[in-house]
Amino acid sequence: MSKLWQKDYSLDSLMEEFTVSNDYVLDQQLVIADCLASIAHARGLQHIGILTEEELSNLEKGLQRVIELRQKDDFPITIADEDCHTAIEAFLTKEYGEVGKKIHTGRSRNDQVQTALRVWMREFTLKMCKATGELSEALLAFAQKYEDVPMPGRTHMQIAMPSSVGLWAASFAEELYDEAQHLMHLSWMLDQSPLGSAASYGVPIPLDRQFTSEQMGFTRVQNNVLYANNSRGKFEAMLLDGCDYIALTLSKLAQDLILFTLPEFGYFSLPKELCTGSSIMPQKKNPDGLELARSRSSVVSASAQRVKSIIRSLPSGYNRDFQDTKEPLLTGTKASWQLVQIFKRMLSGLQVNEEALIAGCTPELYATDVVLKQVMEGKNFRDTYKEVGLHLNAVSKLDPIKTIQERTSIGTTGNLGLDEDQLFISLLISGCNEVLASYAKAYKELCGIEDVETVLY
Ligand code: ARG
Repeated sequence: MSKLWQKDYSLDSLMEEFTVSNDYVLDQQLVIADCLASIAHARGLQHIGILTEEELSNLEKGLQRVIELRQKDDFPITIADEDCHTAIEAFLTKEYGEVGKKIHTGRSRNDQVQTALRVWMREFTLKMCKATGELSEALLAFAQKYEDVPMPGRTHMQIAMPSSVGLWAASFAEELYDEAQHLMHLSWMLDQSPLGSAASYGVPIPLDRQFTSEQMGFTRVQNNVLYANNSRGKFEAMLLDGCDYIALTLSKLAQDLILFTLPEFGYFSLPKELCTGSSIMPQKKNPDGLELARSRSSVVSASAQRVKSIIRSLPSGYNRDFQDTKEPLLTGTKASWQLVQIFKRMLSGLQVNEEALIAGCTPELYATDVVLKQVMEGKNFRDTYKEVGLHLNAVSKLDPIKTIQERTSIGTTGNLGLDEDQLFISLLISGCNEVLASYAKAYKELCGIEDVETVLY
C-alpha cells in the first residue's frame, strides 16, 4: 500500500524501517478506537454537508466491517502501510471507491491518532480503576475474614508492635483505593475530544467539534487545537504515573508475601498452582509470580519515565517523536493491568496460618504495651520505658487477640473501619460501571455492534 502522503517518490527502505519501526504492529491495539473515531468524523463531515447520506452510510458500513475483522484478529497492517490509519483508509477506498478518499477531509493523522489514543486511554483508565477497586475490595474481604488474627507488626523489619492480618490487608486495600480514585480523576482529564484539531492548528472548514465529541461519548471538546496536539505524551505519562503508584503498592505487597510465605516465617502460604518449581531441586516451591510482580512494577515506572523523556524537549505542535510514546504506553499499561489481575488470583488462593502468626508474636512484641499499661496506672512514660528496656527478659507475652482488640482509636487493629472502606470502594466501582456503560452506549450508536471494547486484552 502506498503511504497517505506518497506523491512522486518512494521512501528509502532503510528510512521506512526506521520511521515505521514497530508502530504498525502496535497499531493493532488502536484499530477499533480509530474506526469509532472515524465514524464520528464521517458523521461530522455529513453534518456540515461535505459527505452525502449515502457516502456516510458506505463509510459507516466499511468501518463497521473493519471493527468486525479486527475483533476476529483478521485486519492486517503491514510495514508498507505505516500505521492503522493508512490501512483503514486503504480498505475503505478498495471496498467503497471514491468515498474512501474523502474521509480524511479536515483531519490529519496527528489528530486522528490522538483521538484513537484518547478513546483507548479513557477506556483503559476506567477499566484499570475498576480492576484496582475490585482488588481493593478483595483485600478488604480478606481483612474482614482475618480481622482478629494477630500478626507481628514490624518496623525496620524487626519485631515492633502487635498488629493483625486485618490491619495488614486493609492497609493495602485503602492504598489501592486512593490510587484507583486517582485514576478516576485522570479519566475526567482524558474525557475530552481532540478530534478536529487536525495537524495542530485546526482547518478552514467549519468542523463541528462539539458534534463529533458527543458522537464518541466525550463530555467535552479539548478546546485549544494546539494544546490538543501538545497533550500527546503528557496524558500518557500521567496515566502511566497513575498506574505506577498501583504497581508500587503491589510491589510492596509482593515483597511482604515473598517474606511471609518463606518457611522460616510461614505466616501465609500460596497454593502450589500459583508457584513454580526448580529444574534441579525437587523440593522447590518458588514464588516466581511474586518476584516478577516486583520486577514488572519497574516496567511500569520505566514506561512513565520513557514517555516523559521523549516529550521533554519537544517544541509545540506535532513531532514524530510522539510515535515513540506509543510503545511505553501500551507496555506499561498492560504490565499494570496484568499485575492487578495476578494479585486478584493470588489473594483468592492465599492461606493464612494462624498458628505461625501467633507463634511469631514473641514477648518482645509486647514491650511497649507493658510500658503503656504502667503509664495508664500513673507512672511517667520515660522512666517506665527505661525500666522495661533494661529488663526485657521480664516482659512476657500478652494475650495476642486481646491486645489487638484493645487498640480502639480510628484505624487501629480494634477499629479498622472496614465498613466505611467498603462503602467508598463500592461507590467507586459503580462509578466506573456507569461511565463504562456510557462509552459502550456511544460505541453501539456509532457502529451498531453490541459490547465493543477498544482495549483488546
Ligand atoms: N504513527 C504516527 C504517530 O503515531 C501517526 C501520525 C503521523 N503523522 C505525521 N505527521 N507523520 O504519531
